Amino acid sequence: MSEHANPTSREWNSSVYHRLSAPQVTWGKKVLARLWLRGDELVLDAGCGTGRLTGELLEALPGGRVVGVDLSQNMLSSAREHLAQSGGRVSLVACDLSHLPFANAFDGIVSTAAFHWVLDHDRLFGNLYRALAPGGWLEAQCGGGPNIARLRQRANALAASRQFAAYFEGFREPWLFEDAESSAETLRRAGFIDVETSVEPALTILDNAEHYREFVPNIILRRHLENIPSAAERAQFMARLTEQAAEDDPPFSLDYWRLNLRGRKVSD
Ligand SMILES: C[S@@+](CC[C@H](N)C(=O)[O-])C[C@H]1O[C@@H](n2cnc3c(N)ncnc32)[C@H](O)[C@@H]1O
Repeated sequence: MSEHANPTSREWNSSVYHRLSAPQVTWGKKVLARLWLRGDELVLDAGCGTGRLTGELLEALPGGRVVGVDLSQNMLSSAREHLAQSGGRVSLVACDLSHLPFANAFDGIVSTAAFHWVLDHDRLFGNLYRALAPGGWLEAQCGGGPNIARLRQRANALAASRQFAAYFEGFREPWLFEDAESSAETLRRAGFIDVETSVEPALTILDNAEHYREFVPNIILRRHLENIPSAAERAQFMARLTEQAAEDDPPFSLDYWRLNLRGRKVSD
């Protein structure tokens, strides 16, 4: 069975993501602030989502172009709407980063909050390296290190409980959270030079129980919840996690950690 055999598994509720992705946009803006751009480059946004950061990137490239790729058709259609006024300087393409069809094409690649959804980083980084023109750069961030360890432990314990275990038979977490050292090695194996990686905490505090109950299933645990067939039981799963989060200090906080990734393709 292929990784994406479940037709819903690649899909997101993109309007909810667009509305609730303030944490991802805040982190992503910091990644974009690290770029040294001439302003006329061709840049790939790998896993562009609903295009909020793609739009910011376009603003930094007044004479350049961006290609945004994403696996989710819902995300791409929200991005098309969001970027409708971009005057033809952006192309949005449905594709899997594990099968990226570009070679020697881009001056740079930006990616935020996407790579941890791709389980084979050797293959991913190899594809990104091939997509870059000689001398091209990668500036990226994704989940890494002990990202959401507390939430993962709670969700996995609940998934293994008597009520839910039958739904999670054979379930594998959909993420890879590499640490700074192993991701640097993976980037170098793909051919990248001038590699720099680091992991940083990004504790995120949601407003209240209602915010938590909407954010967590749509942004973090959507692949877990797809396993539970009834809406009533999905609500029970989230109710239990929300009760636990209410007891945290601070309440409704998410123990996010980000992995920063930088590298360059050798020049000809
Ligand atoms: C959390 S969103 C981040 C979107 C955007 N970069 C941002 O920071 O708001 C993760 C995105 O990665 C995309 N994604 C996950 N796996 C992918 C893959 N194998 N190929 C392409 N896109 C993928 C998802 O569809 C989703 O749009």
